[in-house]
Parts: sequence; C-alpha cells; structure tokens
Amino acid sequence: DKGTYPYYMLKEIDEQPNVMRKLSAEYLDEAGHPKLDADLVDAIKGSDRIYIVGAGTSYHAGLVGKMQLEKLTGIPAEVHVASEFAYEDPLLSEKPFFIFLSQSGETADSRQVLVNVNKQKLPSLTITNVANSTLSRESTFTLLLQAGPEISVASTKAYTAQIALEAILAKAVGEAKENQAALDFDLKGQLAVVAQGMQSIVDEKNEINQIAEDYFVDANQAFYIGRGIDYTVSIEAALKLKEISYVHAEGFASGELKHGTIALIEPGTPVIGIITQAGTAGLTRSNLEETAARGAKTLSIVKKSLARPEDTFVIPDVDELLTPLLSVIPAQLLAYYTSLNKGLNVDLPRNLAKSVTVE
Ligand code: M6R
Repeated sequence: DKGTYPYYMLKEIDEQPNVMRKLSAEYLDEAGHPKLDADLVDAIKGSDRIYIVGAGTSYHAGLVGKMQLEKLTGIPAEVHVASEFAYEDPLLSEKPFFIFLSQSGETADSRQVLVNVNKQKLPSLTITNVANSTLSRESTFTLLLQAGPEISVASTKAYTAQIALEAILAKAVGEAKENQAALDFDLKGQLAVVAQGMQSIVDEKNEINQIAEDYFVDANQAFYIGRGIDYTVSIEAALKLKEISYVHAEGFASGELKHGTIALIEPGTPVIGIITQAGTAGLTRSNLEETAARGAKTLSIVKKSLARPEDTFVIPDVDELLTPLLSVIPAQLLAYYTSLNKGLNVDLPRNLAKSVTVE
C-alpha cells in the first residue's frame, strides 16, 4: 500500500533511512561486528577471487561491492553483467566464490550464470530482497536485504540495501582475515550517519523538484560524471533518469570526457558531477568546468568536506566506501521529479517490467 504517496517510488526513496537502520540492527552486533553465518564467511575467506554478478541496478551495486570487498578483505573481485557473463565461458580462478545480486531473485540473466556455476559445483551467495526466490533457492548461501517489497520498476532502496549489506559482508570476511582496515571500520557508526544523512536529503524534496523542473524536464540529454566509486554512481544515476523520465542520460568516467564524449555537450546540456573522493575531487571538478566552458549547465553532488559555495547538493561526510549511499539520493529524486513533472507514470515506465524473467 502506498498510503498517501502518489507513487511507490517516492515511498521507497523515503524508506531508505529505515532500511539502513534495519540492516545495521539485523546484521551487526552491539559492538559493531557482523553477525553472519560462519560457513559463509569461511567460504569467502578461503576463496582466491570473488565474482560478482548482476543486471541493471544490481550490477551497479556490485561495482561498489567490488571496491568494498577488495579494500576490506584483500581478495580480488570482479563484477560482471549477467547476460554477458552467462555466455562467456570465462577462465575462472582456482577457488572462485560467486556473489549474485538480485532484488527480485528471479532475473533470468543472473540465473543462467548460476546454472553454470552449479554445474561446476562452485560455491555462491545470493543477496536478494525475496526469500525463497529462484536465485536464493539455487545458491549455496542467501542474505536477505530486509528492505520490504520494492514495487516501483525503478530500483532505489534495493540498491542502497545491497551496498550496505555488501559492506557488512566485506567487514565480516575482512575481520575473519584480520585485515586492519576491516577491524578499524566503524560500520555501525557510519551506517547511523548514513541513515541521518539520507533523511536530510529526502527532506529537501521541494528544492530537488525545482531543480528537476529547471534543468531536466525540457532536456534532450543529460550526463553524470565522476571517478572511481563516483563513476559507478554516475551510471546508476543516469539509468534512473533514462528509465523513468526518458531523458537520454549517460554516466561517464570524468577523465574520459576529453577522449570523445565532450563533443556531445551542447549549450544548456545538464552535466552533474559527483564528487565524494578526496583523491580525485580536484580532477573531476576541472572536468566539470571543462563542460561548463562548452556551454553545459553544471550541477554537483559533493561531500561536505570537499564542497564549495557554488555546489548544488552538499551531502554529509561519510566513509569513502559508503558515499554511494548518499550521493545516489539526489539523483533518485531528480529522476523521480523529472518523470512526475513530465506527467509520466513514474512506477510503470514504458517497455519495462519489474522483474525480467526472460534472457
Ligand atoms: O531483480 P534484479 O535486481 O535482478 O533486477 C535487475 C534489473 O532488472 C533492475 O535492477 C533494473 O535495472 C531496474 N529497473 C533499474 O532501476
């Protein structure tokens, strides 16, 4: 039931602070240590490479998970688009471990990879929102997102829940390996900061609605740019915008602009820079200025400690491995209000289904 909300998507965006609190309560103990199945943690700890598989937004969450897992466990990880990986006949490491990300647990592309994995009797984990879903039943281990049903076709709370749960998993395996970064990571404290930060952003709906009207409703195209983890959010942000508002949007690695993409910038093209990583903030900022010099209308989503007075959205400071949990929120709301202001059916965009059960 969407209650007083006009669309499920807005309700689901608003639920994200609570989902963060729920995941923290469910999977972290009083002292902040993960409470996960010891067999699952051992299986990942004993692997020499983690293969993360997903489609669409779940794939984008996997890109963040790779960074978290590598940093906190030291185990190399790679991320694959399910529909590509299923038919690649990949060269695997000696002791691979597979992680499937799927909100629905029913995505046929991801399942096809799992069928191949099971044929080879390899261990796997499904991270899903739906208990007893196909992927959950067919994989060795399951972790539930605990996000409550996600009805809107555009995925929002499942993305942030996947990222938070991947961080919990990475900390669990990292602690088991006595990895110092994992032991030092105050994930419980940081998830509390994230929940509060999400709330402060969703409380700014009126301003975000206005920006959607001013910049996106009449736009033919829009670009998100960023580096590293911010690049992964830029492709998720662009997917959200194109999926429900039909504005042609793309996310780009900001350093790649000058290698071709910048030719697309026309006077008035909205370009949004996502800037949350201290090491690359200056570089992305210059790339954003280069687009402004070619006529782009630039906007920015910037972490507080890196912010300047001219920035559009200033998001609270949080650990660099968790910034997507906050930087994605303005992008979700921009997509929502662009779709709403264009008079579209936000929850049921054309040509799409919530769960894609064909390959
Ligand atoms: O249920 P899944 O997470 O496996 O779904 C994967 C994609 O179909 C899904 O994330 C899709 O990209 C969303 N509509 C994006 O908002």
